[in-house]
Amino acid sequence: VRKPIIAIDGPAGAGKSTVTRQVAKALNLTYLDTGAMYRGIAWLVLKSGIPVEDESAIAELVSQADLEFIFPSNDQPPQIIINGENVTHAIRTPQVTALVSPISAYPVVRQKLVSYQQELGKLGGIVAEGRDIGTNVFPDADVKIFLTASVQERARRRLIDFQAQGQDNIDIQQLERDIEQRDYQDSHRTLAPLRQASDAMELNTDGLTIEDVVNKIIHLYKMNE
Ligand code: C5P
Repeated sequence: VRKPIIAIDGPAGAGKSTVTRQVAKALNLTYLDTGAMYRGIAWLVLKSGIPVEDESAIAELVSQADLEFIFPSNDQPPQIIINGENVTHAIRTPQVTALVSPISAYPVVRQKLVSYQQELGKLGGIVAEGRDIGTNVFPDADVKIFLTASVQERARRRLIDFQAQGQDNIDIQQLERDIEQRDYQDSHRTLAPLRQASDAMELNTDGLTIEDVVNKIIHLYKMNE
């Protein structure tokens, strides 16, 4: 039998990455960051210079790409390697972030990454984070969480992240607009849009600490055992 799977979906900036990483560590499961995989493809398109509208050229590019996604079972960060180049850090730039929603809407991109994700999850033992994990990638996950927070709260958290990286010239209203735009694009695409699975538990994290959220998820998981 396969080991357990926890699916954590939700909009940009709800705290999924931090929470998922800590849940995986506490339960000794592997952390599967599917957003990093879509970012890897967006990075590849950006680097190629192919316009984002050119679906057939992007399909060709993606079908020929050598994709390597390494999700260590210890506390190490995932490694994203595209055509032999380690892009683990390069996928976090604002340029990649702006491109990832339109790129991830293409069927060819989703098919390739979803089958990769399902292969990685075949034996279970993972906490997977994304937009379509509970609805599409692992519909039989043992625990499904839909993590949300208000746009204002999510923008505030992003601002704190940027400030921690020494960037002080960030406009919070712009952050709110970027978050709303990405939410809109992710939830209005045709293929596997962002939405809460009917059997997912919604967790609004406004006013909760990371520790509160992690503990709630661990509690749900233990009740399910
Ligand atoms: O989670 P993260 O912000 O890194 O995700 C980046 C983008 O990748 C999302 O805005 C979304 O467009 C796409 N994505 C997706 N399906 C997933 C995970 C991410 O479409 N399962």
